Amino acid sequence: MASRFDGKVAIVTGGGRGIGRAVAVRLASEGAKVLVADLDKCPAQETAAEICSSIGEAISTSVNVGDRAQVDAMCALAVDTWGRLDIQVSNAGITDREPFLEMTNTLWERVLQTNLFGTFYCGQAAARQMVKQGEGGRIIHVASNSGVFGGRGRAAYGASKAGIINLTQTMAIELAEHNILVNAVAPGATKTRATKGDLPPDTVLDRSPIKRYGQPEEIAAVAAFLASDECSFTTGHVYCADGGFTVAGVMEG
Ligand SMILES: NC(=O)c1ccc[n+]([C@@H]2O[C@H](COP(=O)([O-])OP(=O)(O)OC[C@H]3O[C@@H](n4cnc5c(N)ncnc54)[C@H](O)[C@@H]3O)[C@@H](O)[C@H]2O)c1
Repeated sequence: MASRFDGKVAIVTGGGRGIGRAVAVRLASEGAKVLVADLDKCPAQETAAEICSSIGEAISTSVNVGDRAQVDAMCALAVDTWGRLDIQVSNAGITDREPFLEMTNTLWERVLQTNLFGTFYCGQAAARQMVKQGEGGRIIHVASNSGVFGGRGRAAYGASKAGIINLTQTMAIELAEHNILVNAVAPGATKTRATKGDLPPDTVLDRSPIKRYGQPEEIAAVAAFLASDECSFTTGHVYCADGGFTVAGVMEG
C-alpha cells in the first residue's frame, strides 16, 4: 500500500527534540523526505540519523527561525536536495514566564521573535516555494492552548501563540487559491523536556478530562493528518490536541 507521504518533501523546525522530533519521525515513517531543522545542531543530526538508520530519508540543518536569511537558506537546502517542498511544519518555539508588570522588553522580544516572527518567516518562505511549484502544499503551525486562553505569566508566550492562530487563518484565506492548506495544532501539556514530573500540575489536571500528559507522538499524529492529502477541505483551523482542556467547563457536581 502506498504511504501517505510518498514523494513528498517536508521541513520540520525544532525537529531535534520533543514534538518536532516526533513529527519528523512520523512524516518520514510514512514516506516523506524530511529536513530536520533546529537551532541546536546535534539533536537535529540525531533525529535525522535515527530516521536514516531504519525509517526513511532525512537530512539536518541548524537554523534560527527568528532570522529570515537563515530560514530562506533552510528552504533552499530542502529544494536543492530534493527538488521541491510540499510540507512545512513550523514547530520551533520557546516559552518563558514572567508576571506582566515585570515583563522585560528582552523577554517579550525573544519569545515573539522565535515563535511568531519565526512562524511568519517559515510560512512565507515555504508558501513562496509551493506557489512556484504550482502543486499546492500543506503548512502546519504548532500553536498552544496558551494562544486560546490567557494564562498567568504568559503575556509574551500567549500573545505569540494567539498571533500564530490568526496568522494561520489569514494564510489559509490568501493561500487557498494555490491549494496550499494552512492549519494549526494547539497542544496542551505534552511530555517533553519543557514539562516536569510524571503528571501535569494540578492547575492543568483540574480542568483536563484526560488526566495525563500528552505524548509528542499524539501531537505528531494530528500534524500528520493536517499534512496529508486526507486533509483536503480543512484550512485555517486550530486543532486542540490537549486532553479536552480547552472544552472543559464544569468538571464536578
Ligand atoms: N510541551 C508542551 O507542553 C507544549 C504545549 C503547547 C505548545 N507547545 C509548543 O510545541 C512546540 C515544541 O515544543 P516542545 O515541548 O517539543 O519543546 P522542546 O524544547 O522539547 O523542543 C523545541 C525545539 O525547538 C528548538 N528551537 C528553539 N528555538 C529555536 C529557534 N529559534 N530556531 C530553531 N529551532 C529552535 C529547540 O532547540 C528544540 O529542539 C513549541 O512551539 C511549543 O511552544 C508545547
